[in-house]
Formats: sequence, C-alpha cells, structure tokens
Amino acid sequence: MDFENILISDKEAVRTITINRPAKLNALNKQTIDDLSKAFIAAEEDKNIRAIILTGSGEKAFVAGADISEFAHYEKDQGEELSADGHKKLFNRVEQLGTPVIAAINGFALGGGLELAMSCHMRVASSKAKMGLPEVSLGVIPGYGGTQRLAQLVGKGRALEMISTAGMIGVVEAHQMGLVNHVVEPEVLMEKCVAIASSISRNSPTAIKAAIRAVNAQYAEGVDGYAVEIEAFGSCFDSEDFKEGTTAFLEKRKPQFSGE
Ligand code: COA
Repeated sequence: MDFENILISDKEAVRTITINRPAKLNALNKQTIDDLSKAFIAAEEDKNIRAIILTGSGEKAFVAGADISEFAHYEKDQGEELSADGHKKLFNRVEQLGTPVIAAINGFALGGGLELAMSCHMRVASSKAKMGLPEVSLGVIPGYGGTQRLAQLVGKGRALEMISTAGMIGVVEAHQMGLVNHVVEPEVLMEKCVAIASSISRNSPTAIKAAIRAVNAQYAEGVDGYAVEIEAFGSCFDSEDFKEGTTAFLEKRKPQFSGE
C-alpha cells in the first residue's frame, strides 16, 4: 500500500499508521483523510492485524488540526459537506472499527487532531503533548465529532470550557480528566503503545470486536446498549474463538485465536 501522506508499517500483529506531513504539522487535508480512510479499511480487512497504532510524523505534532488553508474560503454548504464527509470517511469509521486503534499522541493534538485521537479507542500521550479544540478562535466549531466525543470523555462542563476558551491543555490535566489513558516520556511512547497492542493481540479478535460494538452502543442515539450487549454476548458463543478460548482454558494451555 502506497499513500501520499501516510506511512504504514507492520510488526507481528500490530500495524502502525503514521500521518506524514511534518512540514504542516500533519494537518488533515482531504488527501490525508482519504489516505487514512483507505488505510483503516485495509487494516480491518487484514485478519493478521489485531491492533492499530496511529501516530504523527516528526517530534512536534500528532496532528495540528484540519488543514485551515483548504477551508478558509468555504461557505455554509461546503462547510457542512466537509464535516459530514469527514465523519463518514474517517472519524466514525475509526470509532466503529472492529480492530482496536490506539492513538499515540506524540505532540500537538489540536482541533481535528484531537478529534481524531478521540475517535480512537484509547489514547496514550507523550509528556510533551498539548491538546485543545481551538476552532472557536477561528470562528468555527469542532466539526469532526469533537463536541460529542469530548463531552463523552471528560463531561459537559470541562468540554465546554475547553471548546469555548480554545485553550490548550498539557498532559497532566488531560490525564486527570480522563482524556488520555497514559502519559509517558517521548522516548517510550511507541513502546508503551506496542505493549498495549501486544496484550490486545493475544485475545480473541471476535470478542474484542463485539466489545467495541457494545461499548459504542451506549453513545448511539436511540440504541439500548444493554440490548446490544446481550446480542453481542450471545453471538460470541457461535465463534471458533469462543470454542478455542474455553477449550484452551480447560486444557491448561494458551489459546490460539483465529478471529473466526
Ligand atoms: N492547517 C494548515 N497548516 C497548518 C496547521 C493547520 N491546522 N497547523 C500548522 N500548520 C502549518 C503552518 O501554517 C506552518 O506552515 P508554513 O511553514 O508553510 O507556514 C507549519 O504548519 C508549521 O506551523 P507553525 O505555526 O509555523 O508552527 P509553530 O510551532 O509556530 O506553532 C501551532 C504550532 C500548533 C501552535 C500552530 O501551528 C497552530 O496554531 N496551528 C493551528 C492549530 C489550529 O487552530 N487547529 C485547528 C484547525 S480547525
């Protein structure tokens, strides 16, 4: 797979996707969103891949936002289309991906960058990272799910403070409010993410996919998350992974999950 603005590398069952526009602090232009969209679909279809790490190229930024130069001249309909397109192609897709995605936040995660990190299933930050949703300082609001996902992750009051002040927070505050799961020194950021990804890759992909679906159901409008959990729980019993997991336990050996 060759992409203009992203790099892909695999190690065992873990795929790393690196957003690679360091000169523009990895800002998300349309091409990058398209590349990421295709890369996530390909990763999910690859049965050998059990976890994905998403990070930014260079030392400065994870992603410094949507590419402001692309939308500065837009009008209402184009703005709406930009937002809807991004939700569909990338942000909702990442959130609903059956393969867990870990955001390795290596620097600035601003605007669309923080929104992308929040679409991931979990976040690990370098101690140098800075996060914020500065959109209102540009006269616009977060449009890639930030108004919803930030409130889900940190609560409405903190979300509205971050959004309306357009301020940046450091990792101590981000960790305290539950925006990131872990904070580590920059040199060990990828190591920490790989350790989490490796733990994930030892478990049943079928069950993890079902768990993501059930957890996401809590935030879906008009959906009873408990009902989704019951159905998803039941569906696991039909899987090869369930047979393998329970048999391996009873035979006192490590399971070898196929993801079927
Ligand atoms: N869109 C487009 N280009 C961006 C960008 C964005 N969101 N963020 C950074 N860049 C570009 C800069 O224009 C600059 O390009 P140039 O060298 O061709 O002029 C390059 O990336 C480096 O950024 P620069 O601003 O010079 O770095 P800095 O260290 O002085 O500041 C930031 C870093 C992150 C504070 C600053 O780049 C910034 O505020 N970015 C915008 C953040 C934002 O508002 N994001 C939300 C968008 S909705």
